[in-house]
Amino acid sequence: MASIIYKNITKRYADGTKAVDNLNLEIREGEFMIVVGPSGCGKTTALRMAAGLEDITDGQLTIGDRVVNDLEPRDRDIAMVFQNYALYPHMTIFENIAFPLQNRNMPAAEVKQRVQAAARTLGLEEHLDRRPKHLSGGQRQRVAMGRAIVRRPKAFLMDEPLSNLDAKLRVQMRAEITRMQRDLGVTTLYVTHDQVEAMTMGDRIAVMRKGVLQQVGAPVELYEKPANLFVASFIGSPAMNLVQGRVTNGNPFGVCEIGRQQIALTSDVLRNGRLSNYHDRDLVIGIRPEHLEDPQGADPMAPRLTAKIRLVEMLPPEQLVHLELDAEPVASISALELAADVDKTRAENLRLEAQSHRVSIVARLPSGRRYTEGETAEWAINPANLHFFDGETGEVLR
Ligand SMILES: Nc1ncnc2c1ncn2[C@@H]1O[C@H](COP(=O)(O)OP(=O)(O)OP(=O)(O)O)[C@@H](O)[C@H]1O
Ligand SMILES: [Mg+2]
Repeated sequence: MASIIYKNITKRYADGTKAVDNLNLEIREGEFMIVVGPSGCGKTTALRMAAGLEDITDGQLTIGDRVVNDLEPRDRDIAMVFQNYALYPHMTIFENIAFPLQNRNMPAAEVKQRVQAAARTLGLEEHLDRRPKHLSGGQRQRVAMGRAIVRRPKAFLMDEPLSNLDAKLRVQMRAEITRMQRDLGVTTLYVTHDQVEAMTMGDRIAVMRKGVLQQVGAPVELYEKPANLFVASFIGSPAMNLVQGRVTNGNPFGVCEIGRQQIALTSDVLRNGRLSNYHDRDLVIGIRPEHLEDPQGADPMAPRLTAKIRLVEMLPPEQLVHLELDAEPVASISALELAADVDKTRAENLRLEAQSHRVSIVARLPSGRRYTEGETAEWAINPANLHFFDGETGEVLR
């Protein structure tokens, strides 16, 4: 076991592409760290530098107590699992798992003992004499894992290892890899662009965008306290609702204006130092779908927001109620750019809304109550659940 530390790490490819830009990240001993972000944000590049498969342009990479910048991959004592887990078709499962050990002239008895231990961990004991083509996709993925764990390396590096599996198998393997990582306690750096994998598997998540680390934290921390509009939009499904608004002085603690509606703020919200610098300036207001509540179940004193019900999607035990709000959509260039990074359709919707003075938002509610499409209704909001962002920089105001 060992920590992996990226210190001011930059990667510039020969053609000038800056794939990773001054990355500072520590993966602690035994930690399961997820790197997540949209396609092309530099995840694989970051991982390959740790593996020694890619030169480091700038900065210092440490594994355990060794700076590894100039160390050959085979001397780094780490194991990689890729998306295409290329097994040797002519070898048995036993031979496939044993392969990295036989390369090192380990005595046969120890090889056997280690392969059997790995097979036990992964539930492959009955398949050791078979060939890869006789195994299911999930079992083959487990063989690839076996090949990694049998070496007992200091760290695992995994690059989207589940992306070739069907949805059901992914859910199962997700849980298995998480359990295996906990059991073995091996430091793990796991790359994915799937935010559900990110949220469910790791101890902490590092979110990247265009080569730049945006935020590192436990899943709940990223969800509840996103550092900027990008993380706020990337983490969570359905995504956080965003609308243009302002905060003004008013009785007694100030109000948040959304369109022509006002949400009275509480003293603790207004005590937020940075927000007070944004009085009477446009900013972006974020509301998670579950924070638009039915007034019947909510605090009777909670402020209300009126919005028209456009569509109800039943997903017991929940329902997603799509609402139309009379307000200004988020229109700043940077906000549109950020949205485009997360999801192209979402960006296009924002662009269309920009001319309409209407914003589509989503409420996530228990499926028990019936809502009628076309009706206008009130929704309760606890002001402590509002997120405020600078529309230009995208930074959270906290
Ligand atoms: N060998 C290379 N030469 C030049 N540019 C490269 C090279 N490999 C990757 N890039 C570029 O570096 C950036 C980061 O690529 P990388 O593969 O690390 O992204 P990623 O986050 O893993 O994306 P994905 O989710 O699609 O796998 C991209 O802009 C990519 O086009
Ligand atoms: Mg990649």
